[in-house]
Amino acid sequence: MEILSTSASDLERAARALRSGGLVAVPTETVYGLAADAFNPDALAHIFEAKRRPRFDPLIVHIDRLNLLDSLVKRDALGPRGRDRLEQLARTLWPGPLTLILPKKPAVPDLATSGLDTVAVRFPAHPVMQALIAQAGPLAAPSANPFGYLSPTCAQHVVQQLGQRVDFIIDGGPCDLGVESTVLDLTGDEACILRPGGLPRAAIEDCIGPVALIDRSQEHPTAPGQLKSHYAPHAPLSLFPRGGLDPATAKRGDVLLYFSQTDAARALAGRPLPDGVQLRVLSESGDQKEAAQRLFALLHELDDSRAARILAEEVPSGGLGDAVNDRLRKACAKNKG
Ligand code: TXA
Ligand code: MG
Repeated sequence: MEILSTSASDLERAARALRSGGLVAVPTETVYGLAADAFNPDALAHIFEAKRRPRFDPLIVHIDRLNLLDSLVKRDALGPRGRDRLEQLARTLWPGPLTLILPKKPAVPDLATSGLDTVAVRFPAHPVMQALIAQAGPLAAPSANPFGYLSPTCAQHVVQQLGQRVDFIIDGGPCDLGVESTVLDLTGDEACILRPGGLPRAAIEDCIGPVALIDRSQEHPTAPGQLKSHYAPHAPLSLFPRGGLDPATAKRGDVLLYFSQTDAARALAGRPLPDGVQLRVLSESGDQKEAAQRLFALLHELDDSRAARILAEEVPSGGLGDAVNDRLRKACAKNKG
């Protein structure tokens, strides 16, 4: 493994490696991805091996211009409303943190889609990812973490977790958004969010009208991002509703995690922190964007510092708060196993 910069010559090296079937960890505006040539089944197999990801969990294919859609997607199979939604969303919200589930063309390898007749497509906004796609073609890229673990939001996270399993890691600095893209299924009568993410639901509804949110209680998830346990730190995490985390219940070695300084002060109500208990907030000022951006980095840091337990309180819902609460729920210890 070698760490590369974002210089033109380094990106050329990375693109060459991708064209010959290699694996490259790449910054995007959401999280770091583990990229490979979307049309090379051997390279795709390496992604699953490197992540120890079960093959039933399909990948997102990334494009850098709209006319690549036709190499991946069977538009006819969508129906007029679906085609309309696709056009509106692609024109308005791409490039950006939005992944669309669409009917696939036979040319897309089964390994990319886990044998489904749909393919997940995203047009990322990050210039490094765009430059690589321009040189190497559509790239399949899951988040660059071992299956089930926290997503990486800086190059160092990838070095720690997958360093020995990739050819190159491109260091593009910390990710702007810090949570993965919103996954939206356009194949049904109703557009449906399968995974809340970096693009708030309201932005999608402004563009195409009301969308549904997948019911998490269903027995058989269609997107493993919906699996109950995912994005989990090693330290057991317990999640409390807003206003429900009492610092007095924490024991030595625990870390209390609140949304904002105001939330933490309200919970403490003038009492000192219990002995040996640490306090963290996702955003001092209570900014949802900052909370999303810091979430995975903070959980990585708490894992590295061997927190005994993480006791977290939900953040306000709406906007990016929905994505943060979704990740906290899935990181929750009681959902493990
Ligand atoms: O922001 C992101 O989306 C990042 C960056 C690297 O682009 N990628 C990412 O990939 O988060 P991954 O593989 O960690 O998550 C992809 C999600 C999974 O929950 C997967 O199950 C779902 O998308 N997915 C992929 N193809 C699907 C399909 N055909 N139908 C339903 N869900 C699908
Ligand atoms: Mg992932």
